[in-house]
Amino acid sequence: MKLAFLASGRGSNLKALLSACRSGQVKAEPALVISDRPQAGALQVAADADVPHLLINSHDFQSRSEHERAIARELDKHGIDLVILAGYQRLLSPFLVGFLYEPRLGQSRILNIHPADTRRYQGLNGYAWALKEGLNETAVTVHFVDEGMDTGKIVAQAPLPMYADDTLESLQERGLALEHQLFPQATQKVIEELEQLCAAF
Ligand code: GAR
Repeated sequence: MKLAFLASGRGSNLKALLSACRSGQVKAEPALVISDRPQAGALQVAADADVPHLLINSHDFQSRSEHERAIARELDKHGIDLVILAGYQRLLSPFLVGFLYEPRLGQSRILNIHPADTRRYQGLNGYAWALKEGLNETAVTVHFVDEGMDTGKIVAQAPLPMYADDTLESLQERGLALEHQLFPQATQKVIEELEQLCAAF
């Protein structure tokens, strides 16, 4: 099973997943990391782990569809089975979701992590949203990606307690630690589902 990661930012989830691949918790080969942003820390995380990595800068393309076609060509070239959005801050178009659609699964072969309960909040800055809402508890969610924004089928979710003295920094720190546990677990669960499907056909 070959994994590709799309990442736009610092890459802490990427780092946790690469380490889970190394330890054998995630039974797959991290075959490719693609970032849409030259300054993304994720590119350095990939370099440090000796994982092939590429910048496919969104600014070098006229349209989202051309940018995604360049990504799809690389996924194809590397024989990627599952794509992990590890802090990828762009909404995928129906083209890329369709390109990775797995009919036997009834889902795309794309996973995303979201720093909130996707049934309650979709979009950016999930931890800031939870603080603004004054919640006692929020969540982190791993879900399949569909054509909507954070609307795909939930694979795994973990509750994140919130405290009266929480700041964005403290909540984010605990939330990220939880993301780093949940994402590898959920990824391995989906890998096992995909392997069962392959064995059945
Ligand atoms: C994570 O908190 C992730 O849940 C969030 O971005 C951060 C990426 O951090 N993703 C989204 O908001 C997706 N819409 P990282 O680059 O350190 O993994």
